[in-house]
Amino acid sequence: MVVDAWEGNLKTLEIKSAVLFVYEGEVRPLQKLGRAISGRVRKALEVKTFKGKEGEALSIPLPGTRIPLVYLIGLGTKEKSGADTFRKASALAVKAMRKDRVEESLFLCQKEDPHITQALAEGAVLGSYRFDKYRKEKEEEPFEVSRILIYTSDKEALEKGKILAEAQNYARSLVNEPGNVINPETLAQEAKKLAKEYGLDCKIYDEKQIQKMGMLALWSVGKGSSTPPRFIHLTYKPKGKPKDRIAIVGKGLTFDSGGLNIKPGDYMRTMKMDKSGACGVLGIMRAIAQLKPQVEVHGIIGAAENMPSGTAYRPDDIIRAKNGKFIEIDNTDAEGRVTLADALSYASELKPSVIIDMATLTGACMVALGEFTAGLFSNSESLARRLEEISKGTGERLWKLPLDDERLRKKIKKGPADVINTGGRYGGAITAAMFLEEFVDEGIEWAHLDIAGPAWSREEYGYYTQGGTGFGVRTLTEFILGL
Ligand code: BES
Ligand code: MN
Ligand code: ZN
Repeated sequence: MVVDAWEGNLKTLEIKSAVLFVYEGEVRPLQKLGRAISGRVRKALEVKTFKGKEGEALSIPLPGTRIPLVYLIGLGTKEKSGADTFRKASALAVKAMRKDRVEESLFLCQKEDPHITQALAEGAVLGSYRFDKYRKEKEEEPFEVSRILIYTSDKEALEKGKILAEAQNYARSLVNEPGNVINPETLAQEAKKLAKEYGLDCKIYDEKQIQKMGMLALWSVGKGSSTPPRFIHLTYKPKGKPKDRIAIVGKGLTFDSGGLNIKPGDYMRTMKMDKSGACGVLGIMRAIAQLKPQVEVHGIIGAAENMPSGTAYRPDDIIRAKNGKFIEIDNTDAEGRVTLADALSYASELKPSVIIDMATLTGACMVALGEFTAGLFSNSESLARRLEEISKGTGERLWKLPLDDERLRKKIKKGPADVINTGGRYGGAITAAMFLEEFVDEGIEWAHLDIAGPAWSREEYGYYTQGGTGFGVRTLTEFILGL
């Protein structure tokens, strides 16, 4: 599907369909399409009710005219709508077109605004996403929407939206790949391929090098699997002197069975998504390579598969992480934080000003916030605020949780080692974040996003399909672009 900017004469335009995005209470059809068309639309609205509520869609056939089909897509009230309203509405329009088997359309808004243009492009690209490569029995007559034109002169906003949404779709597809296809080795190959295609630096460390570098935490988590762990380091360097340096770290458990503390079947299902943070990092690096900000960006992934076996790590094990701290294993299913211990230590050694990690870290975060909101933790109030602000526009919901409860922190600081990998039943998302904090060097601004909930969608919603969501790709890329 191509998404393009178009700004020709609307009064003579001939196209298979047009989509008008309208606010609630302002349903008078846009005059821009010319008197004849808007008159016919007004006539149709005398018999059909359309209020313009968010999520409302109406198709009005106008046979014999220049535009034989007009869609009205509701945005809700102007006060309540934001960029994400347009993103969702755009996806809804593309989904309606696919259902009606309409090949092309012009998307039209009341006013032009770069954020809206970008959101419409994002919604169109995200809304057309499908993961059907494993369906060999295709539909009888396969159909794809072939062309979306957005009525705008702002090519730059449109291109940015396309790049961001394509990066998110790329992350979604990687998340949707099962554990028999993506394991630590093949994930590393994917990173290499990405680097080659987009001109990034890429270093891959195998299980021997991982041990040599002192990343015994990552190595331990991965050693129960017959596909050994990999450490992935992608770098984007701008031309000329960078304004800033940032590291993005992703949890990369290609499958999380729980290990010796094995998960019950119901909980093990969908654990191919435990690499969502890593896939997000690959998506971000892809977008950054295309958008070329004046910032040095490091993408870091500790990839492992958590399996039970004779060589698996065990409860009671005491492991030395890269930064020299010792970790006592209480539960092998709290493996993500153990792999991140080394990834964050490695990232700290690069001396970035900011580290942001994304991890499907705890079920507890879903208990706290529900499955549609990521937990946000940070040692920097201003970093947290910037991320919250950006997330309002991207629609990737974040909610800040505290790291300052020193009494709670004690729960991971008892026992024979420096730190223990679980903190008991209560505040599980917080004690997990506090564990991570142990591996970030003093003086580095750090934020952790616990994306256990929103990384995966159980159903189709807005611009999401069932499955991987690519959550975080747009928010963190926008953050980097704003540095
Ligand atoms: N990958 C899981 C967390 C998770 C749960 C992600 C559900 C997405 C959906 C993580 O490795 C895990 O198993 N966490 C445990 C920690 C516990 C053993 C302290 C959990 O949340 O139950
Ligand atoms: Mn686990
Ligand atoms: Zn996990």
